[in-house]
Amino acid sequence: MNETLKTIAERYSCRDFNGVMPPDQDLQAIAQAAIQAPSGMNRQHWQVIVVKNQELIAQMEEEGLKMLACLEDRSHYERIMSRGGKLFYHAPCMVMLAVKEAFPKGAELIDLGIVAQNVALAATSLGIANVHCGFVGFAFAGDRAAEFKEKLQFPEGYQCGMGILLGYANTVAKPHVPNQEKITVIE
Ligand SMILES: Cc1cc2nc3c(=O)[nH]c(=O)nc-3n(C[C@H](O)[C@H](O)[C@H](O)COP(=O)(O)O)c2cc1C
Repeated sequence: MNETLKTIAERYSCRDFNGVMPPDQDLQAIAQAAIQAPSGMNRQHWQVIVVKNQELIAQMEEEGLKMLACLEDRSHYERIMSRGGKLFYHAPCMVMLAVKEAFPKGAELIDLGIVAQNVALAATSLGIANVHCGFVGFAFAGDRAAEFKEKLQFPEGYQCGMGILLGYANTVAKPHVPNQEKITVIE
């Protein structure tokens, strides 16, 4: 297996970080990998925001949990509570991906997913634990959305896409076992 395939196979979702901040040099390399991502027509309708501000991360976590608790369907909230009640698992850093609507509508989400995976794989290759965090979107679901957009310096017209939490693992987990039935070969 080459290094790239090894990195892909080794990546797992970390849900218990020790709070230690990765070095700037590594965060810069991860941000570079993010913006190296392909996008339809090279539109790059994303903004990669490296968030190291602990207070801001804590505020978004608090708001996200609050909004999650308001949902009629309590299953997500209860799942988070059963995992220790933390939306961001003590991660010291978040790569926030802000996104602008693209044409055709929805295509920007494909672009964004590729950026997110570049972030996750670059981090894994550098020994930095990570997890994709769609739930960060809940921080933008209430009254504080405009405040967070401003603090995160979203470009005009951009929305929260998703976050990738970065740090070092307190508890190392195993990658999921790939389901071989998800591959079909037509000859
Ligand atoms: C778009 C997306 C959003 C996700 N959002 C969350 C999240 O908010 N919280 C979380 O703990 N995991 C989140 N995950 C991680 C998935 O649960 C995880 O990738 C999946 O269970 C497979 O496990 P693995 O990543 O360890 O292989 C997300 C993954 C993706 C791709």
